[in-house]
Amino acid sequence: MAELKSNSAPSAERKLHWADEAEEEATSKSAPPKLSWGEVAASSVDALSICETEFNGFLDEPEALNINAVTTGDTPYTSASTFEDLKLTPALLKGLYTDLKFQHPSKIQAISLPMILTPPYKNLVAQAHNGSGKTTCFVLGMLSRVDPNLKAPQAICICPTRELAIQNLEVLRKMGKHTGITSECAVPMDSTKYMSFAKRPPVTAQIVIGTPGTIKKGISAKKLSIGSMKILVFDEADHMLAEDGFKDDSLRIMKDIQRISDHCQVLLFSATFNQIVKNFVARVINDHNQLFVKKEELSLESVKQYKVDCPDELSKVMVIKDRILELGENLGQTIIFVRTRHSASTLHKSLVELGYEVTTIQGALKQEDRDKIVKEFKDGLTQVLISTDLLARGFDQQQVNLVINYELPVKHENHSEPDYEVYLHRIGRAGRFGRKGAVFNLLMGGRDEMLMEKIERHFNSQTAQVAAWNNAEDFKGALKAAGLL
Ligand SMILES: Nc1ncnc2c1ncn2[C@@H]1O[C@H](COP(=O)(O)OP(=O)(O)OP(=O)(O)O)[C@@H](O)[C@H]1O
Ligand SMILES: [Mg+2]
Repeated sequence: MAELKSNSAPSAERKLHWADEAEEEATSKSAPPKLSWGEVAASSVDALSICETEFNGFLDEPEALNINAVTTGDTPYTSASTFEDLKLTPALLKGLYTDLKFQHPSKIQAISLPMILTPPYKNLVAQAHNGSGKTTCFVLGMLSRVDPNLKAPQAICICPTRELAIQNLEVLRKMGKHTGITSECAVPMDSTKYMSFAKRPPVTAQIVIGTPGTIKKGISAKKLSIGSMKILVFDEADHMLAEDGFKDDSLRIMKDIQRISDHCQVLLFSATFNQIVKNFVARVINDHNQLFVKKEELSLESVKQYKVDCPDELSKVMVIKDRILELGENLGQTIIFVRTRHSASTLHKSLVELGYEVTTIQGALKQEDRDKIVKEFKDGLTQVLISTDLLARGFDQQQVNLVINYELPVKHENHSEPDYEVYLHRIGRAGRFGRKGAVFNLLMGGRDEMLMEKIERHFNSQTAQVAAWNNAEDFKGALKAAGLL
């Protein structure tokens, strides 16, 4: 894989972002929002011209997923019940059917792809559930809109972490295998291979997927040409445009591109868009179609959520050891989320001392170690992965049945306030594309209970209590009820 490289060294004093990225920083302060997304939606309802067909009977995806559409202008969009309806090239259809083994578009694919692929190629802000197939929407969008005869960058996809950029590139390469379209990953490389942008050849790949810092540097160094840009995608877009995310870099890239290629289509995809981001999006993305989901309908029914009261930290370790690890491979793969790098390494040490094989990923590791740990997990060589929020968003591994919140996610600026979006993304690592899954939230004391209550209220989702942290039957019952045993 050809890689562009960032010249930013990880800073020891940097503040920890939700995703625990080591290499990318955001710095901006934004003006207060003027118009909320809700207001835009309401004022545009009269213009709604989408034709919806019945969405049910898909292979894995639950029928109940509810996505609302609001379009602007007078272009009618007919949702696609087959990939053929989208008039994709034979090369792309081959990739979808033969390499990815997809049979039908999922609901978000059926609705969003006609919006992406129909002239005048309007901007799109698309929200859909975790694991519902958003990657395919923007990957097919990029592959379809690129002119294969023009050997210059025409599509950029920006992701919050190197792991997600690499994963999305892998999907793109598989889907586009028969198209001849070229692609490149723009993420930081480890310091031993560093080469300044000035010394690198210009990017010739037609699609570039990467992290914001590296993409920004490629553009500034005039090594990543934006003159022929047709489509700009933000995956995990709410985080990419958030104050404590990558707002500065994202806006800068968007403005640079729009200044030169005024018809560049912008696509924003995420499972979550909180009100602050919605308001901001309404201000910065011109004339866009929207797909959105009510927050009360975002939790996946196929993923059962549990809470477990644990008297102290040792009991949390024992729950993982005796109730989860002892069941071994019967459970499929497990991700244990922790809040800080420090927690990641102390939990890792505790479990290794007890004789269990676990791997741990967090932003302070060397890039090549991060890549190795993810690859081993994706290849099924490791069963249990401890992670900071580095993997909370987008990480797709269908074999993950179980997510454990060793610590609940909280807002950086206020630890009494849950980070609702991160909670949803974490639990969405299980139950991909309608699969069954379970989540255990390990609560230690009143503060955790209060956080859990707030989360339940926010998403209107029920979290069942596991009666006793030290009772094997209680856990087996919970896992059975989730369909995992
Ligand atoms: N049409 C389809 N048919 C079968 N499987 C599909 C289809 N579309 C996507 N998938 C599979 O569903 C899984 C989840 O897809 P994807 O990672 O795109 O979800 P997502 O919506 O981006 O979720 P998240 O919000 O968590 O990032 C992937 O393993 C993908 O291969
Ligand atoms: Mg995704």
